Amino acid sequence: MNDNLHQLRCFGCGTRIAGAEAQPDFRCALCGDLFEVDYPGWIQKKGPDRPNPGALKWLWRERRCSSETLDRSGVWRFRELLPILDSFGDAVTLREGDTPLYRLPRIARALGVDQLYAKHQGMNPTGSFKDTGMTAAMSVARERRFEWVACASTGNTSASMAAYAARAGLKSLVLIPDGKIAWGKLSQAMDYGALTCQVKTDFDGCVRVLTEIVKRAPIYLLNSVNPYRLEGQKTPAFEIAESFDWNVPDHLIVPGGNLGNSSALGKGFRELKELGLVARMPRISVIQAAGANPLVRSLAETKGSSIEPVEAHTRATAIRIGNPASWRKAARVIQETGGWCLDVTEAEIAIAKAELGAEGLGCEPASAVTLAGFKKLRAQKLISSGDTVVLVLTGHTLKDADYTIDFHRGTLLKDEEKVGLESEIEALRRNAIATDATPEAVLSAIKGAKA
Ligand code: F0G
Repeated sequence: MNDNLHQLRCFGCGTRIAGAEAQPDFRCALCGDLFEVDYPGWIQKKGPDRPNPGALKWLWRERRCSSETLDRSGVWRFRELLPILDSFGDAVTLREGDTPLYRLPRIARALGVDQLYAKHQGMNPTGSFKDTGMTAAMSVARERRFEWVACASTGNTSASMAAYAARAGLKSLVLIPDGKIAWGKLSQAMDYGALTCQVKTDFDGCVRVLTEIVKRAPIYLLNSVNPYRLEGQKTPAFEIAESFDWNVPDHLIVPGGNLGNSSALGKGFRELKELGLVARMPRISVIQAAGANPLVRSLAETKGSSIEPVEAHTRATAIRIGNPASWRKAARVIQETGGWCLDVTEAEIAIAKAELGAEGLGCEPASAVTLAGFKKLRAQKLISSGDTVVLVLTGHTLKDADYTIDFHRGTLLKDEEKVGLESEIEALRRNAIATDATPEAVLSAIKGAKA
């Protein structure tokens, strides 16, 4: 059976090509822009390939009770909306997706909203949202009989790629910026058997080097310029819509780095709407770190018509990206849904991360920008108390334990970064206490514990 119904359409000039015709760097030969996966059979309202919304909702729900490998994946459970493989039987899966949607009651109360949720993509097999995209693109790599796959990464893509390559029996090459990624992520790439190069440059430099490599050697590129990554990464939109019984939330708030994820989630909601599974899209807002905010600047200064790369600096190393590949796609998502694009400071990120930790969830710093951004949108009255809001938490708290420990020890932020926020930070810090080995010493620690 041929499960494949897709084409690639250039986001810039609209040129259509067959999937196998893509260049190694996934750029359009005519205009240099990126491709999107497109399903021409969905356009004709009564065509045989157009999915039937009622039947799909029922089928996807049924599959939640199934023990079939594909049905247990939160990505392939929705396979009718990502017909990118010649055979779904070729899918490389680690049971990704189907991540929890948690309520955030304490934070919601403090900020005066009723319905605040976190979609925790850090609860994926390798601890980040990248797994939902990797299962899709790695499956394509294997179907197309590549021996080697590669990515440039701030850490999570490489961890995910290395794991899925190992499962697929492929060799993987990782380029990471020297000294600028969290140890948890580096350890994963090593453990899953990748050839890992710590390159003496930043993420944007790693991308430049890798783009040349894939043009010279038969290596399959698995950065998010690869449009199949985004097909997997759109599926959390389906999970979110399903969780709300196909009434989408008012707001979705996503961190922005290379801007593949916001693009993918926007595509997911757009397709649900076009196919009649939901009535509208949520407003999708993208939050960047203030030291790595090229999209914020692009939208403010040029309404998203051009982008000026920046030299990126932030302790949220996952989003330390100055020249994001998918900026045009992300700008479109923000503009078509009426969302916003904001940046947040290092102290705001650290506070938000500790607040999510105190809700019993935790996440990595890059994910916490969503809460920091939400607080700003709420303060500006752009989100009202009756709105339903979903924050997308992209990475697990254990990815970057050094950051968390430094925050609680009080060594993370410089004095000038904390100005005006000192008491908020102090109230959240929970440093470990060295005690004598006596019950009295521990009891006195309990007495002195913060409320
Ligand atoms: N959050 C986390 C935890 C990430 O790892 C990333 C990106 C993002 C947010 C931003 O998502 O790039 O789609 O806008 N990490 C990439 C990597 C770049 O190499 O792991 P984006």
